[in-house]
Amino acid sequence: MKICIRNICCIGAGYVGGPTMAVIADYCPNIKVAVVDVNKNRIDLWNSKDLDDLPIYEPGLKKIIERCRGKNLFFSTSINEYIESADMVFISVNTPTKKTGIGAGKASDLKWVEASARQVAKFSKGNTIVVEKSTLPVKTAEVIKEILESTDPIQKVKEQKSFHVLSNPEFLAEGSAINDLQKPDRILIGGESKDAIMALHEIYRNWVPEEKILHTNIWSSELAKLTANAFLAQRISSINSIGALCEATGADVREVARAIGSDKRIGSRFLDSGPGFGGSCFKKDILNLVYLSNHFGLPEVANFWESVVSLNNWNQNRLSTLIVKTLFGTVSSKKICILGFSFKANTNDTRDSAALNICKNLLEEGAYLIIHDPKVGSKQIELDLNLKPVIESEDVEYESDPSQYEGKWSYSREVYKACNRADAIVVLTEWEMYSDLNWEIVAKSMRSPAWVFDSRSIVNSKKVLKAKLNFWRVGDGAIQKKR
Ligand code: UDX
Ligand code: ADP
Repeated sequence: MKICIRNICCIGAGYVGGPTMAVIADYCPNIKVAVVDVNKNRIDLWNSKDLDDLPIYEPGLKKIIERCRGKNLFFSTSINEYIESADMVFISVNTPTKKTGIGAGKASDLKWVEASARQVAKFSKGNTIVVEKSTLPVKTAEVIKEILESTDPIQKVKEQKSFHVLSNPEFLAEGSAINDLQKPDRILIGGESKDAIMALHEIYRNWVPEEKILHTNIWSSELAKLTANAFLAQRISSINSIGALCEATGADVREVARAIGSDKRIGSRFLDSGPGFGGSCFKKDILNLVYLSNHFGLPEVANFWESVVSLNNWNQNRLSTLIVKTLFGTVSSKKICILGFSFKANTNDTRDSAALNICKNLLEEGAYLIIHDPKVGSKQIELDLNLKPVIESEDVEYESDPSQYEGKWSYSREVYKACNRADAIVVLTEWEMYSDLNWEIVAKSMRSPAWVFDSRSIVNSKKVLKAKLNFWRVGDGAIQKKR
């Protein structure tokens, strides 16, 4: 029987829920979409008048919010009310790696998913399709189903409740989320009920070509999501391992990547060597795979995937060690300017950012860091580093003596000022603005011998060297030889 969706409720107004629902609302004017969250502050920001205050920065997002908010897109903390009126509920809550207990450090913490399922079980009315959107370990749909089915049977009959569970993993990448949602490579819908699958299928058909919508069983869908992220992360660890070898041998990883990437079987994307992958997904998903593999008695499979994460950790530590070694074996009492704190460009997300680990290492070594990022504010960095900035006002005393500030940091809104009297500049996020700096101006204000470390290969090496700055670039053994 055809199921027609009129009201959607999405639990979780984060990096996945917010942009995904905005795009659904934009393409489906006849569907009322409500995004609900327990975090009032986040909801207030989604409702803020000034669209520059939205809690998430994504190119293209502001325009959609402007078009749809208040028409068929709503952000609210009235979770129960919107669950009650929904024909379809998306679960888009956070699923971080467990910190304690069984599976700590590897398995995902499903307490927020469980809480959401319980709320749906309690407040939904009639037929409800529950869609898992958050990245989840395989078999989570089963947990959700069990919770939904354990609703008080009397209440169930009285309110004529019934549920279908679908897995519909999101493949958007932050920084290009809107484009990825508007032009997805594929949409994956896993489930048991053909009618429920078709109800979601019809929503996507409003803008996604038929042949791109794949139907699978529920576990294949869940596993496909983990596998896609694991394969992507594996490519990054692979190229970073080769980058280190290039530095040691005089080869250039960018040339190697171009050469191997032109083989159609390998492909050219996801071969940028850098400081190591960050973000909320790759590490978490691989650790989930590791946990699952061990659980199902496949330790060799678990070890294979775990090495992808180990290589990534090693790569991040390698960078901070290299910086310390290059600066005559110590960074204590030295001023280091950090360009970029988000885990990649075009997002304000700092979760598991390589910059965070590298900054922590440098602070431990006694460096004074001046951190700049065009979209990440001082408050977020303070939370991540768990350390207050020296200058609260965000107005750094650029002339100050760094020896007063060993192991401390300040925030800067101004790139050129941030570089003032610095011993080194470290580019950690590939924001476009950093590829276009005037190195003559920068060089004049730095303390000699001054260094530029480009962990993202975005800086124009010729201009840096012309400005008489020392230069290091990730994976580039050739440039080290030129000095
Ligand atoms: C990833 C997946 O790409 C996406 O499909 C999934 O839905 C969520 O996880 P995301 O983490 O948002 O998306 O960004 P992505 O572009 O994949 O980058 C992840 C990390 O890898 C970033 O730190 C990025 O800088 C790094 N990276 C990416 C590289 O170091 N080199 C590359 O070639 C590509
Ligand atoms: P993601 O990147 O997966 O979108 P985020 O952490 O950005 O993750 O967003 C998840 C959101 O889910 C958070 O804003 C959090 O407050 C919200 N959330 C978690 N549990 C619940 C719940 N039971 N009900 C409503 N919202 C929830």
